[in-house]
Amino acid sequence: AEKMETSLASLSPPSVILTQDELKKIAAYKAVEFVESGMVLGLGTGSTACHAVDRIGELLRQGKLKNVIGVPTSKKTHEQALSLGIPLSDLDSHPVLDLAIDGADEVDTEMNLVKGRGGSLLREKMVEGACKKFVVIVDESKLVPYIGGSGLAMPVEVVPFCWKFTAKRLKDLFEDCGCVAKLRTCCEKINKKEQPFVTDNGNYIVDLYFKKDIGDLKIASDSILRLAGVVEHGMFLDMATTVIVAGELGVTIKNK
Ligand code: 5RP
Repeated sequence: AEKMETSLASLSPPSVILTQDELKKIAAYKAVEFVESGMVLGLGTGSTACHAVDRIGELLRQGKLKNVIGVPTSKKTHEQALSLGIPLSDLDSHPVLDLAIDGADEVDTEMNLVKGRGGSLLREKMVEGACKKFVVIVDESKLVPYIGGSGLAMPVEVVPFCWKFTAKRLKDLFEDCGCVAKLRTCCEKINKKEQPFVTDNGNYIVDLYFKKDIGDLKIASDSILRLAGVVEHGMFLDMATTVIVAGELGVTIKNK
């Protein structure tokens, strides 16, 4: 990955401390500069991608963008895009997309990603895997030295059937890394009992936490995907073509 640009322009004076959400918005707006009229776009999910979708809607409304079609990566983004009047389609009708813009939970030095803490990893991986260009937008807190390095969750989407069995097998795969596997729950409780978080595809998410570096990511990816019961995992390896990072000192753009 090559560092292409560091720009301090368009940011507030350095003395002004920007919030994390302002940094996300700066990265998102920068990414939307890559969008051209007539493009078919993968629309990401999460608080950073939300700014990009808003901006695309605004530019369409102002007539500065024309004939753009969006392919949303979640039901939530679908609703947002609909409310903004962005024409929508899907992978069946548009199997090749021009560009996707989405956030990430972790970005390593090779532009590998962890995604899915918002729960949309499967549709994100399908849509973003079908794009000629995939622009990732993050604030600098998402940069990690290695995947799993934030100490936060690496999500795996699993079928609900015997999820405990699948979670145990996932944990066992990474025993040497001190892996803990936890079912993601939602805020709803029934009879005071926490309920599983259910994805847009009707599946559950098992979040993996690692105490140590998991090593070769391709091997880790293959071993997770080999487990029956696993639908997809949140490692997006070698998929991003551009990463836009907004930090207190400016915007950095890295291209593959
Ligand atoms: C959702 C995702 C999001 O892109 C990721 O969680 C980043 O979210 P945010 O922009 O809110 O920090 O992968 O499944």
